Amino acid sequence: MKMYRILLTFLAIILACSVSEAFLDRKTQQKVNGICKQTPDTRFCSSVFAKSMIPSSPSNKDLMNMTVRQAERFSANTNFFISTLLRNAGDEKPDLQMCAEAYTIVDMAFTNAVSYFDQGLYNNILKLQKKVSRGVSICKTDFIVPGYKINPLIEKNRDAMVFMAMEKIVSRMVAS
Ligand SMILES: *[C@@H]1O[C@H](CO)[C@@H](O)[C@H](O)[C@H]1NC(C)=O
Repeated sequence: MKMYRILLTFLAIILACSVSEAFLDRKTQQKVNGICKQTPDTRFCSSVFAKSMIPSSPSNKDLMNMTVRQAERFSANTNFFISTLLRNAGDEKPDLQMCAEAYTIVDMAFTNAVSYFDQGLYNNILKLQKKVSRGVSICKTDFIVPGYKINPLIEKNRDAMVFMAMEKIVSRMVAS
């Protein structure tokens, strides 16, 4: 019984350590807060950083790397998500097709952002905002998606704009 308790305590300590690794250090957290407060959705922005931070004291360039890669992943996933909705679509099909077109544009912009980052062309990322905004505006969300209380693309559109805002902010930080 005693042994069992020691083992449990030991496991709890291990768990606590591995969980705390998922949090950001204070300085990084402050930096992330500074970035996220400038976006339309602070919480979503913070969750993106919290989910994907690898280095313990990331440089601005690390933050930017993470941002452009997460944005690209988001747009590719959204493209895929829309294609799955289209597979069983009824009346909402034309609207979904517009959104598929929209996210092809958004995904192209976010894919370009990754390659601009890799080439060190940080200022070029600012030019992608128009494309992302245009893409998002093509995806109208005033239709019903069967199985969803709220059209899930409303959230995707919002997230796309938050990602774009994040890219803009971090690219300015890296370029300056
Ligand atoms: C960016 O992140 C990717 C994957 O996390 C990594 O392989 C790459 O080396 C990073 N690039 C830079 C310039 O930090």
